[in-house]
Amino acid sequence: MASTIAPFPKTRFRRTRKSEAMRRLVREHILRPSDLIWPLFVCDGENKVEPIPSLPGVFRRSVDKIVDAAQEAQALGLAAICLFPNTDTRLKTKDCAEAWNPENLSNRTTRAIKAAVPDIAVMTDVALDPYNIDGHDGFVRDGIIVNDPTVEALVKQAISQAEAGSDIIGPSDMMDGRIGSIRDALEVNGHQNVAIMAYSAKYASGLYGPFRDAVGASGNLKGDKSTYQADPANANEAMRLIARDLSEGADMIMVKPGLPYLDICFQAKQSFGAPTFAYQVSGEYAMISAAAQKDWIDGHKVMLESLVAFKRAGCDGILTYFALEAAKILNE
Ligand code: PBG
Repeated sequence: MASTIAPFPKTRFRRTRKSEAMRRLVREHILRPSDLIWPLFVCDGENKVEPIPSLPGVFRRSVDKIVDAAQEAQALGLAAICLFPNTDTRLKTKDCAEAWNPENLSNRTTRAIKAAVPDIAVMTDVALDPYNIDGHDGFVRDGIIVNDPTVEALVKQAISQAEAGSDIIGPSDMMDGRIGSIRDALEVNGHQNVAIMAYSAKYASGLYGPFRDAVGASGNLKGDKSTYQADPANANEAMRLIARDLSEGADMIMVKPGLPYLDICFQAKQSFGAPTFAYQVSGEYAMISAAAQKDWIDGHKVMLESLVAFKRAGCDGILTYFALEAAKILNE
């Protein structure tokens, strides 16, 4: 939709760039704190804030410290946070039963946040990898990640999260049929207003490494996730995955990773017009942070540039480890 452009010198693009006031006037996309969802890593214990070496500036926090973080997020105008538990290795099993334990770390954290900071939306992760001795998002039987038995387990996990007070269920597992099964179970269990943000176009990426360190899944994982996560070479498949998840009752869809997949974000928004989110994943954060630490790039500038790019591509929001830092700058 290129508009008619008068030839030079009638058109001079530099006129609308000559001052900050003029640039603000014609700015097409504005990043706001409420566009950002902050992923938080939870660990056992009390008063604990542990650094994660592959994610400088990101921490694992005990439940009390997560509540503090939620408070800070709320004060800075973030609308949602997203929880990922670092489960004690002794609780990781073949049957992953800890995933739907009403008292597991994720559910205890959700309840604590809902009691102390009720207005921030809490998103929780549905997938078996934090609880699985095999490190995969689904059950492993004879070396195969089995779909349908995994979906049954994911449904139990999602219901336990809704019961703990989760506002947004985030299935990140990439099993087929899980959105419909979770949606049906939420309906019949009285959780009609619990939303689903489907990790619909989630790719088998090399950019998840630091996250797997953060949740303690790196050591357990054998092989890769390419039988359930999408092939980075495919775009049509992403559109079909999104169409499928919307038809099964997803309220919001996600593309993951973020920056290398902006074409997918753009196409997704153009094709479906649904609430569309991108996950700027751990490896993307690590790349920007590491280069910034070396003073090879201006960290703040690249952070904000990377985040507004998602809005330009059509995203309604971004899951990013930069959420708090970015919100502070945006509020200045
Ligand atoms: C797994 C899960 C992953 C992430 C979120 N949920 C990693 C994976 O698929 O191995 C990655 C997030 C990140 O890298 O920041 N259920």
